[in-house]
Amino acid sequence: MSQSSLSQRIAHPALQARVTDADSAAALIPPGSTVGMSGFTGAGYPKAVPLALAKRIEAAHAAGDPFRIKVWTGASTGPELDGALAKAKGIDFRLPYNSDPIAREQINRGEMNYFDMHLSQVAPMAWQGFLGPLDIALIEVTAILPDGSLVPSSSIGNNKTWLDRADKVILEVNRWQSEALHGMHDVYYGTALPPHRVPIPLIRPEDRIGQATFRCDPGKVIAVVETDSPDRNQPFKAPDANARAIAGHLMEFFAHEVKMGRLPSSLLPIQSGVGNIANAVLSGLMDSPFENLTAYTEVLQDGMLDLLSAGKLRMASATAFSLSPEAAETINADMARYRDRLVLRPQEISNHPELIRRLGCLAMNGMVEADIYGNVNSTHLMGSRIQNGIGGSGDFARNAYISIFMAPSTAKGGQISTIVPQVSHVDHIDQDVQIIVTEQGLADLRGLPPRSRAELVIGNCVHPAYRDMLADYYARALRDSWGKHSPTLLTEALAWHQRYIDTGSMLAPAG
Ligand code: COA
Repeated sequence: MSQSSLSQRIAHPALQARVTDADSAAALIPPGSTVGMSGFTGAGYPKAVPLALAKRIEAAHAAGDPFRIKVWTGASTGPELDGALAKAKGIDFRLPYNSDPIAREQINRGEMNYFDMHLSQVAPMAWQGFLGPLDIALIEVTAILPDGSLVPSSSIGNNKTWLDRADKVILEVNRWQSEALHGMHDVYYGTALPPHRVPIPLIRPEDRIGQATFRCDPGKVIAVVETDSPDRNQPFKAPDANARAIAGHLMEFFAHEVKMGRLPSSLLPIQSGVGNIANAVLSGLMDSPFENLTAYTEVLQDGMLDLLSAGKLRMASATAFSLSPEAAETINADMARYRDRLVLRPQEISNHPELIRRLGCLAMNGMVEADIYGNVNSTHLMGSRIQNGIGGSGDFARNAYISIFMAPSTAKGGQISTIVPQVSHVDHIDQDVQIIVTEQGLADLRGLPPRSRAELVIGNCVHPAYRDMLADYYARALRDSWGKHSPTLLTEALAWHQRYIDTGSMLAPAG
C-alpha cells in the first residue's frame, strides 16, 4: 500500500491532520465508554482500532485494571472486532446482534451482557435516550471528501446515527473498499422521533430518497486511521440436498401463487435472511421461471449477486454486503458495474416495518425450530443458549406480505427435530408465520386455525424419524389437553427438549 494514495482518500485538510496510528487512536477510548461501531455482518466494520484496543485492554487486565467497554454496532461484525474484544474479555455490554463464537460463549456463560434487538429499532431507541449516552463513534469509511462528508463503506447499518449521536468520532479510512462505492449509498436524514415523525417517501425499492454520504462535524473527529484490510465474511456452504429441496418447495409455492393470481410473475420484493439455507434459496431462484425480480432486504449475499449478474434480479436494496471472500473480491473489482442496481441504506430504512408492509416483501428467514402451531424460535438453543439474535427477522416477518421460515427438519446430525410440540423460546408468534418449509415439504398456514395448522405441519414438514412420535403426542394432546383450541400437554411439550439435554447431546459438547 502506498501511503500517498491512501491519503488521497482523506481530502479534508483538518482531518488529514488527525491521521494517526491505531494504537494512538485506541488510547483515546476511555475505560467504561460506550462505543458505536460500524459493521453489519462481516462488512464495513473497523479493523485496526478494535484490535489495538483489545491489546490495550489485555495489558490493562494484566495490570489488574478491569477495563471493559460497551459495544453498539449495526449487527454482527468480524473477528478483528467482536472476536478480538471478546477474547480480551473487554466487552461488558453488547447490542444489537452477535454471531461471533467467542462472544457467543461469553454471553452464554453469563459473562457478557447482551441486548438482542429488532434491527430497525436500534437507531430510534438510541435517540430515545434510555440506552444512555454514546461516547464515541468508531466508523469505517471509504473516503473523506473535501467538505468533510464521508463516503460509507460496504455496510451502512447504524453509522449515520452513531456519527450524529456520539460526542467524539474516530474514523478508519479503508483503502481496500472500492472507491466506486461512492454513489451506491442512500443515506436518508428525514427520520425523527414522535411527534415529529413524517412518512418516509420511498415508493419502490430502487427509490433514492437521501444522499450519497454521511454528514459529520469535523470538530468531533479525534482521530483518523488509514487501513487496507478486507471485509471478512464466512464463506457459504454449497447448497446440499436439504437446501436444494427447501428451495424447490418454495419455488413450487411461488409458482402456485402466481398461477392463482396472488403474486405477480416478477413476485414481490424479496427479503432473504442470513445463513446457508437462505443463500441456497437464492440459488433456487436462479433456475426459476421468475424474471425482473427486486429485493428489499437487509443483506446482499452471494446468491443475490449471482441473480443480479444473470439479469434475473433487476435491483436490490439492503444495508450491507454479506459476501463470501471470493464474491467480495469479485464485486470490489467491478463495483461501478453494480452501482446503479444496488442501494445501501441505513438499517432503520432497510428494515423499516412500514416500508416492508407497504412494499409487500416476501420474507424468507432461517429458524432454529418451529412448533406444530407455527410459533418460531430463531434465536435460542434449548430455550436458554442464544445462537445469534433475532436480527431483522422480526422486522420482516411481522410486516411481510408472506412470511416464510425455513430449516432442515433435523439438526445435529438428525439427533434433534426442528419441528417440536412447543418451541423452547418464541421469537415469532404464530400470527407472524405463514409458511413453514423443511426439506420434507411446505406447510401453508395462512387462514388456518391451530388444529389444522398442527395437522399440516406434522404431515408436511416433520422428518419421518420423528413423525410418529409427534403424531402420537398430538393425538394425546387432542384427547387430554385442558383447552382444545391449541391442544398442548405443557409438561410433555417442553420435556421434548429436556430429553436432549438429559442425553447430553446438546449442552455438553466435547471439550
Ligand atoms: N436445536 C439445536 N441446535 C440447532 C437447532 C435446533 N433445533 N437448529 C439449528 N441448531 C444449531 C445447528 O446445529 C448449528 O450449530 P453448530 O454451529 O454447532 O453446527 C447452529 O444451530 C446454526 O445452525 P445452521 O443450520 O448452521 O443455521 P443457519 O446458518 O441456517 O442459520 C439461524 C439458522 C436460525 C441460526 C439463522 O438464520 C439466524 O441467526 N437467524 C436469526 C436472525 C435472522 O433471521 N436474520 C435475518 C434477518 S434479515
